[in-house]
Amino acid sequence: MNDNASFLVLFLAPIKEYLADDKVSEILINGPSQIYIERSGKLEETGASFASEAQLKAAAVNIAKSVDRQLDEMHPDLDARLPDGSRVHATIPPISRCGTILSIRKFKKEMLTMEKLEEYGSVPPDGVLLLNAIVKLRKNVIVSGGTSSGKTSVLNALSGLIPAKDRILVLEDASELQLQQKHCVYFETRKPDKNGQGEFSIRDLVIASLRLRPDRLVIGEIRGGEALDLLQAMNTGHSGSMSTIHANSPIDALSRMETCALMSGVKLPLSAIRMQVASAINCIVHTMRLPDGSRKIVEIAEVLPLENGEYRLRTLLEWKTESVAPDGTVSGRFLLGEAPTFRDAAALTHLELPVYA
Ligand SMILES: Nc1ncnc2c1ncn2[C@@H]1O[C@H](COP(=O)(O)OP(=O)(O)OP(=O)(O)O)[C@@H](O)[C@H]1O
Ligand SMILES: [Mg+2]
Repeated sequence: MNDNASFLVLFLAPIKEYLADDKVSEILINGPSQIYIERSGKLEETGASFASEAQLKAAAVNIAKSVDRQLDEMHPDLDARLPDGSRVHATIPPISRCGTILSIRKFKKEMLTMEKLEEYGSVPPDGVLLLNAIVKLRKNVIVSGGTSSGKTSVLNALSGLIPAKDRILVLEDASELQLQQKHCVYFETRKPDKNGQGEFSIRDLVIASLRLRPDRLVIGEIRGGEALDLLQAMNTGHSGSMSTIHANSPIDALSRMETCALMSGVKLPLSAIRMQVASAINCIVHTMRLPDGSRKIVEIAEVLPLENGEYRLRTLLEWKTESVAPDGTVSGRFLLGEAPTFRDAAALTHLELPVYA
């Protein structure tokens, strides 16, 4: 453990047990005396507490210092990482009203693979066939879903289907993805320093990466104007790229891409952006966290050409919830939808697809 790590561990002593427990994926601290954890997919309140608000705030301020950032009245929120790679978000009063708020997403030593997702029942065998064909046929894919629905995990698993011969560039805000291929080049954004200098955004990375001869771009998450650069890259020969976006449904994912593209500040009429979205994005893989804490791929959809200026999707596979028990346990099944438009292309390249009626 380096000095930085051992020094932060002292400040984080009240939650040491949860930082060390691999079953704990998230630690949510709502002021000094309310600490929740997510363990094996379920949220639990713990009996742990910090001695005082001052101690909790000191922990947050020292996390900020460890990454050369400030957390004070003028800069009341912080996105950072702990030395072990865990993501931290901190907010202090007066922005938060019940003391310092910290949320820690633990760094996963091992990311989920497609085999694991299948083993956990997050995707059925037919879903794996579809996703394999989608990636091998170089379709551009967006993984959508709500917060903590498993988007990054699915993106990581999808990237595992990329052939080893491709040169993959991975662009992220905070490094999480762990690709299985050898020929991967990883990039990470840089936040501005305490003087507001030196920022290198995802958008800067997308633009820079196009000069580095990528066969595939894998982008951690689309949140803003970089959407437009990505759409243009996807539409101009960089097919087979993939990313995630926060959205409530596959159709919402397309609207969110549109909104993000508008955030680029480039003056394009909405109709032009919509055409770019519909032609650049070929497939949406939608994820969800179900009431029992399990995560699933609840829909795989293909994006069809616009009709009267409106998006159209074809559902290839979806999850249907049939019942929810009082303890939250969900039962249901995956159903095939319509056959993909790339059925013939898949047959030509001997890619197996589910058996559609
Ligand atoms: N299919 C799954 N089965 C079990 N656990 C999963 C599954 N998918 C994801 N998880 C776990 O759920 C947590 C959230 O997953 P992940 O980071 O992939 O979600 P996300 O949607 O990208 O979250 P965010 O909105 O914060 O970006 C992680 O701890 C991850 O290991
Ligand atoms: Mg994510």
